Amino acid sequence: MSQQIDHVFDENRRFVPSEEFAANAIAGPELYDEAAADREAFWAKQSRELIDWHKPFTNVLDWSNPPFAKWFDDGELNVAYNCLDRHVEAGRGDRVAFHFEGEPGDTRTITYAQLTEEVKRVANVLTDLGVGRGDRVAIYLPMIPEAVASLLAVARLGAAHSVVFGGFSADSLRSRIDDAGAKVVITADGGYRKGKATSLKPAVDQALADRGDGEQATVQNVLVVKRTGQDVDWNDERDIWWHDAVATASAEHEAEAFPSENPLFILYTSGTTGKPKGILHTSGGYLTQAAFTHRSVFDLRPESDVFWCTADIGWVTGHSYSVYGPLANGATQVLYEGTPEYPEPGRWWDIIEKYGVTIFYTAPTAVRSFMKQGREIPQKRDLSSIRLLGSVGEPINPEAWMWFREVIGAGDVPIVDTWWQTETGAIMISPLPGVTETKPGSAQVAMPGIAIDVVDEKGEPVGDGAGGLLVVTEPWPSMLRGIWGDPDRFVDTYWKMFADKGYYFAGDGARKDEDGDIWLLGRVDDVMNVSGHRLSTTEIESALVAHEATAEAAVVGANDETTGQAVVAFVILKESFLKQHGPEGLAQDLRTWVGAQIGPIARPRDVFIVNELPKTRSGKIMRRLLRDVAEGREVGDTQTLADTMVMSAITKQVK
Ligand code: WT7
Repeated sequence: MSQQIDHVFDENRRFVPSEEFAANAIAGPELYDEAAADREAFWAKQSRELIDWHKPFTNVLDWSNPPFAKWFDDGELNVAYNCLDRHVEAGRGDRVAFHFEGEPGDTRTITYAQLTEEVKRVANVLTDLGVGRGDRVAIYLPMIPEAVASLLAVARLGAAHSVVFGGFSADSLRSRIDDAGAKVVITADGGYRKGKATSLKPAVDQALADRGDGEQATVQNVLVVKRTGQDVDWNDERDIWWHDAVATASAEHEAEAFPSENPLFILYTSGTTGKPKGILHTSGGYLTQAAFTHRSVFDLRPESDVFWCTADIGWVTGHSYSVYGPLANGATQVLYEGTPEYPEPGRWWDIIEKYGVTIFYTAPTAVRSFMKQGREIPQKRDLSSIRLLGSVGEPINPEAWMWFREVIGAGDVPIVDTWWQTETGAIMISPLPGVTETKPGSAQVAMPGIAIDVVDEKGEPVGDGAGGLLVVTEPWPSMLRGIWGDPDRFVDTYWKMFADKGYYFAGDGARKDEDGDIWLLGRVDDVMNVSGHRLSTTEIESALVAHEATAEAAVVGANDETTGQAVVAFVILKESFLKQHGPEGLAQDLRTWVGAQIGPIARPRDVFIVNELPKTRSGKIMRRLLRDVAEGREVGDTQTLADTMVMSAITKQVK
């Protein structure tokens, strides 16, 4: 079957960087030329400039055994030293590393000197618990400074962390602990979410309990942060309070150098089906690309910027752009524990105003939920400190991009739409804010030093103006090094499709426009086939979001006797529109609208107005479940849903 994807939606707005921004930008156009002249030399130079190597590398890339890459492999470094000590040694210890804001409103200001000291103490505690090079530590914490300190302490020892998002169940935690063979778990009594103290420690107890299957958990100790003060069950042999152990530990700790390819972390990603994959990242290449992309994509000025990435530390975005990239670059950041809507929907904007956030990096799902609530909420706050906006996680519909720019960015700040994955470790496709003329809805160009193409099923480039499969054609420094414990699955999942060409297949559909700019079209599994036309979910969703009534939309292909598949849309309306007009007749209007915007072939057979959409805990729409509803089937596995009630509400609304 052809993998080409038809193109139906056009977006013609363009935004050039201001002259002032372009003239002062950290990343200029010469980066593309340098990288094109010699990719490996380019990365070697970035690495030497951005990272302190205890032992300098001489090898850059070893690709003698593809797809198993080694970067800078005769070099040695300590990742935590690069994020902490070296800034203190350079006299920048008083710089704020984090403005922490807890959901209840408690705050902490943490300098680089303080964070460095804390990490040294935690490293000593973990050493006493027997953690050393090559071990794994599971981290199951809320978004509090101890989470950052835990990651860095594990990294400092040359061990690998496996962060499990705090919203996952005891069973998910146990399977991740088992798969990684974790020795220690770092957790908290609980955390604050939506105004309530939620618990974490009981899930750890349950995860580690004897299940009567003769399999003992590999965990020997549990280090527990006191966050909420709620009662917890205690196992004297196993459990240790963080505040006891860390306070009495020595604040002296020398960072030892480890080889560049020493594992840094495992992060589980569920993919669409089956057992979660433990994505493995290593040290030198990962840190190089995280630091380089953070600096150049966000135009970072560490002495004056306040950077805020809203992602939880349980996702790769939190790893690369709340911990490793920003700290390696010596940035000042905001860290926020709770939800955007507590105690009321303007909480994020209050935080931006309070700390003078200058660079704000978030997900389209958040932008669309703010669109739903209405612009009056952010407009009550002073957001004038913002000078750059970033988006990640899903395609951002052009209308959401415009809203983000106008309402949050005062209509004049650059937006960087950054495409990457847990597997890629760091940003791969993005505008450079002082160079690229931006197009709402497009991630646009491969980063300097990154080789991307859009190809057909044979691996042949589709060329400008056509859609197909997104591939990475050359190895990159922060690429995954494998799936923990399963090299065959690594090869099968990512490298088999284009084995003869040696391309990494990302699972996404994409289109190159006439200028060669890249537009992400959603997962290829979600592409619809309507009367022989292959349509992407993203383009039809963008057309729906371009209607004044719509805040968010999800479309799926449902079996249809005449057209093979038919487009079925689920739509969330803006509250302001609902107040003024109500939903009457709107489904029909939206069908007509899509037909007029992008042609009859894409016109939805059905439009359902719903209050919510099914999303994963990281905010991605789960179209598979909507397909079940659209085809009148019983709804499939909802375990990965953030809110399992959503599907029964939708099923009811559709009936
Ligand atoms: C998938 C990876 C990257 C960190 C967060 C998600 C989708 C991500 C974009 C973007 C269109 C995007 C892709 C990708 N995605 N960023 N800017 N435009 N799609 O990491 O959970 O591993 O998900 O997210 O489908 O494959 P992840």
